[in-house]
Amino acid sequence: MEILRHAHSGLRWLVLLSLIIAILNAIGKTGGQKAFTDKDKRTGLFALIFTHLQLLLGLVLYFTSPKVVFSSAAMKSDVLRFFLVEHSLLMLIAVILITIGYSRSKKAQEPGKKFKSILIFYLLGLLLILVGIPWPFMDYGTSWF
Ligand code: HEM
Repeated sequence: MEILRHAHSGLRWLVLLSLIIAILNAIGKTGGQKAFTDKDKRTGLFALIFTHLQLLLGLVLYFTSPKVVFSSAAMKSDVLRFFLVEHSLLMLIAVILITIGYSRSKKAQEPGKKFKSILIFYLLGLLLILVGIPWPFMDYGTSWF
């Protein structure tokens, strides 16, 4: 399972990069003057795919990692509680937000609304992901890659 942990750790960068690109791409276009092209659609889709892949890896890790211990005692340890509850829950909410953003953008008729949905929901998702990552400088932090 060490390979999955490395994959999950490295994939964070693709998740972050693809979300930032989709957000930057939507900035300034919510007014509706710009058409929503196939390139715009692909930009949002890439971020969605990387985030969903990360969710799948995360779910496998959740049931195999030694850092996830299903016991009430685990709730008393900062590190164990972080992976059991905080990290997983924050990331799950972030993935749901990003999925809602993509699907609302797909359903919206006007280009401005399509960009707005990506901008708002992807930005909220990105913020939750940034907060939920076990960055190396935190008590329960891991590695950069
Ligand atoms: C979608 C955004 C997510 C990002 C960016 C993310 C990122 C990370 C990172 C950077 C680590 C540290 C890996 C290391 O260096 O050891 C980690 C660990 C972990 N993540 Fe996620 N994660 C995400 C979603 C999830 C979800 C949804 C779950 C569970 C349902 C999850 C479960 C775990 C577990 C159990 C670990 C600990 C693995 C171990 O060290 O044994 N992650 N995650």
